[in-house]
Amino acid sequence: MAMIGLFGVFVAFIFFLAFQCFFLCKKSLNVLLLKNWPFLGMLPGMLFNIPRVLDWFSEVYEANDMTFTFKGPWFSGTDMLFTVDPRNINHMLSSNFPNYPRGPEFKKIFDILGDGIVAADKELWEDLRKSGHALFHHQNFLKLSVSSTTSKLKDDLVPFLDKAAEENIVIDLQDVFKRFMFDTASILMTGYDQMSLSSEIPGYEFGEAADFAEEAIFYRHFKPVILWRLQNLIGVGIERKMRTASEFFNSMFAKIISTRRKEEKSGGKKEQTINAVTYYLNADTAKYKLLKPSNDKFIRDVVLSLLVAGRDTSSSALTWFFWLLSKHPQVMTKIRQEIKAKFDPTDLEKLVYLHAALSESMRLYPPLPFNHKSPLKSDVLPSVHKVKAESKIVICIYALGRMRSVWGEDASEFKPERWISENGGLKHEPSSKFLVFSAGPRTCLGKQLALLQMKMVAVEIIQNYDFKVVDSQKIEPVPSVILRIKHGLKVTVNKKI
Ligand code: HEM
Repeated sequence: MAMIGLFGVFVAFIFFLAFQCFFLCKKSLNVLLLKNWPFLGMLPGMLFNIPRVLDWFSEVYEANDMTFTFKGPWFSGTDMLFTVDPRNINHMLSSNFPNYPRGPEFKKIFDILGDGIVAADKELWEDLRKSGHALFHHQNFLKLSVSSTTSKLKDDLVPFLDKAAEENIVIDLQDVFKRFMFDTASILMTGYDQMSLSSEIPGYEFGEAADFAEEAIFYRHFKPVILWRLQNLIGVGIERKMRTASEFFNSMFAKIISTRRKEEKSGGKKEQTINAVTYYLNADTAKYKLLKPSNDKFIRDVVLSLLVAGRDTSSSALTWFFWLLSKHPQVMTKIRQEIKAKFDPTDLEKLVYLHAALSESMRLYPPLPFNHKSPLKSDVLPSVHKVKAESKIVICIYALGRMRSVWGEDASEFKPERWISENGGLKHEPSSKFLVFSAGPRTCLGKQLALLQMKMVAVEIIQNYDFKVVDSQKIEPVPSVILRIKHGLKVTVNKKI
């Protein structure tokens, strides 16, 4: 109780300071943004800006030549170097990659993902990466990704949108995309269709559990480890929801893995396609020595990481994309013209302008707005900032996409044309500048799959429906590790004649 009391006083003090800070220091914005207070460090400025924390980071980066040090409360271990300088990004993610693993702090913060690829390092990561690469390039897995997306569009998404159009009801497009991507990712990763887009099911636990876990993980970055661990232990606030999420994932995977093991034993249900659970249950341990096919907890960690990576990123990208299209009808018109002239379901690469518009949308609204690094040994970054061994480095991908010094004076504008080269093809941008799918050896494993699925969904909707975004809603991101719209994206749809 004493700890809770102390925490209450601490929070009240922070709000008091933030309040003071706002009224006293309004005239000097930069001082307000990065004021280093005794004991509390820069935390008050950050907490004060939580509702618009990503834009706040962007402003601070721009004002500080793309790199600054964030000082957390004294002795809390939350000091961090923030950088979006492409030279530093290239150094940490590519040229000096072995010195920048995830680090032990990352593993603690992302403990819900256990030994899955997202939090793994060293030899385990290498085995997961190589085996994951083989899975994602397996003919049967590729077949399943196209067939499952096609059938989910035809059997679920289209009937759902048709019904919404017929009944003229308001739907939350963000929720629709999350459910759609969860169902397709679940088929690919577990072999089960969760049918969460079926109109009979109002809510779904996996989605809620994942959303809470992602928010809790965001806040963990700025809290002393001891504080969030204590909150988790006694079950307070967002950490209580994190615990519930973890229990839900454990029980969901226990059922899936046990059923799959029984099927494997009985030799029944031989499928033409391959999913991540069956693939890892039969993993080749001679080739990948650190994989543990007989360990249920290991399979849970590996597959949960893939499921979360597949659902949340692509649904976030599609949501912001459709919101931007609603604000830029001229882009929608151009995409429609391109689909009419060039659409070939077997060759989506022909849709160059659609690809450009998706890239431009993710530049401004990257589904994963942050990346983290922690050097093994002390180092000096190309920007001449010194970094100590095991210190924390944060790259805000959201801010990188908005830097005028990187993207030009029109950086904040939505202009798919910036991705089109003079000969009409796609313009390539280095990944240290367009970090949406990360860079170097840890580049996103699902990039091609994500682009394929997003294009299939976008073409289906753009070809067949007009939609209108409900005017009165506030569009703002949730402070989370995934860039979601706080209250969703409410729209009405009409079937095109
Ligand atoms: C628009 C969609 C997507 C975006 C923007 C995206 C972005 C990213 C980013 C930024 C990373 C690096 C994370 C980090 O290092 O902290 C990453 C890693 C990863 N992504 Fe994606 N991703 C997308 C879709 C997918 C899909 C559909 C899958 C497949 C299930 C997937 C699987 C992975 C995996 C397995 C990793 C870990 C790679 C490693 O650590 O070696 N992603 N993704």
